[in-house]
Amino acid sequence: MLVLVKSDYEELSRTGAQIIAELVRKKPNSVLGFATGSTPLGLYRELIRLHRNEGLDFSKVTTFNLDEYVSLPPEHDQSYHYFMRENLFKHINVDRRFVYLPMGMAQDVAAHCDWYEEQIEKCGGIDLQILGIGANGHIAFNEPGSSLGSRTRIKTLTGTTREANARFFKKSEEVPKYAITMGVGTIMDARSLLLVASGEGKAGAMQATIEGPITAMVPATIVQMHRRATIILDREAASKLTGIYTD
Ligand code: GLP
Repeated sequence: MLVLVKSDYEELSRTGAQIIAELVRKKPNSVLGFATGSTPLGLYRELIRLHRNEGLDFSKVTTFNLDEYVSLPPEHDQSYHYFMRENLFKHINVDRRFVYLPMGMAQDVAAHCDWYEEQIEKCGGIDLQILGIGANGHIAFNEPGSSLGSRTRIKTLTGTTREANARFFKKSEEVPKYAITMGVGTIMDARSLLLVASGEGKAGAMQATIEGPITAMVPATIVQMHRRATIILDREAASKLTGIYTD
């Protein structure tokens, strides 16, 4: 596990984007796993800049997103479909035919989850999966207690996650109760992982993730078992680490 502590959010975002850009240049038909949440936004902005100013080409890239709220249609402004379209996809030359996100409106959720797993496999697996982290240590919507071997499925969101995400909705009651999420096992199958964490609110979760014992109660701790995982933190998110890490 490579742990990089950067001086601020901008540097964290630039470093993360460089890792992705390097992969896309080396393998133009890379399969990228994208994440939502506020943390990867800086990284997406930097990817957009690299596309515009340096011609970073996404036309052959395939993308899989981690998760989506159940019951939100793709056009809902809090859906992750909308988030990805607005914050990344419409600004780069990704081919919409190669973009995959779980469908929150799926009629048969279990069948849809199986289909999603099959698509990842058909595309040859994910080369690099970007991850944020919840303050409770969740990755994607794998809440504490999620099986560390889990696959794409429906999960009930915890009260703390719904509260944390309520800031984006008009009323807290509007936050969906369920989400479709790649499983912890699905995430671990990616050939490489890039986890980004920023701010003091993530310091406890990052201390547990990097220095704590592996436990399903902090799903992100499983990243310790991955052979090619990079974690980039800013100083605030790293403030509870006791080890010495590179910058
Ligand atoms: C949501 C997403 C996660 C994300 C988390 C943290 O719950 N499902 O993938 O990591 O939010 O979001 P933020 O980066 O806004 O703190």
